[in-house]
Amino acid sequence: MALSLDDVGHLLATRGGNQYGGEAVTQLEHALQCAQWAEKSGETPATVVAALLHDLGHLLAPGGDSTQHDDLHQYVAIPFLRGLLPDAVLEPIRLHVDAKRYLCATESGYWERLSSASQLSLHLQGGPFLPKEAMRFAAQPFAQEAIRLRRYDDLSKVSGAITLPLAHYLAVADVVAQGPLAQATVVHS
Ligand SMILES: [Fe+2]
Repeated sequence: MALSLDDVGHLLATRGGNQYGGEAVTQLEHALQCAQWAEKSGETPATVVAALLHDLGHLLAPGGDSTQHDDLHQYVAIPFLRGLLPDAVLEPIRLHVDAKRYLCATESGYWERLSSASQLSLHLQGGPFLPKEAMRFAAQPFAQEAIRLRRYDDLSKVSGAITLPLAHYLAVADVVAQGPLAQATVVHS
């Protein structure tokens, strides 16, 4: 059952006012900050949309207290978005928790820089990858996009940060949903 982009916008606009786990921002502020980091960093429109929607699972199926159990939110949104958006959006969303496990295993100092809520959820999500798991993760399509998304995710917990409005990023999502031809037209126009 795919959502429409109108449904996605409605969810973000109405349920996005909830607090984002133990962080200082709402879900919507977090999504907009993450999309803005991706766009400012020169990511493709698809990766910008992945950044916007990476935590949509929290809004579709609020999993209760994610400090108590792994809510598996990275998987929840996928069936709702398949058919609407391409793998270039869906895969970084699906992989963004594994990207944290990867970075904790491979980059010294990364774990220490995570927020305490994120450190706690890492533990529930299985902890840092073992070396073999890290290699398997990095070999998957869109793993690099997921790792970059993860870094934007970590930066997007700033109370009161100014962003462009939701409508701007929904317009990007609309172009991505229309397919490669529409994206090429926007890039070259
Ligand atoms: Fe997030």
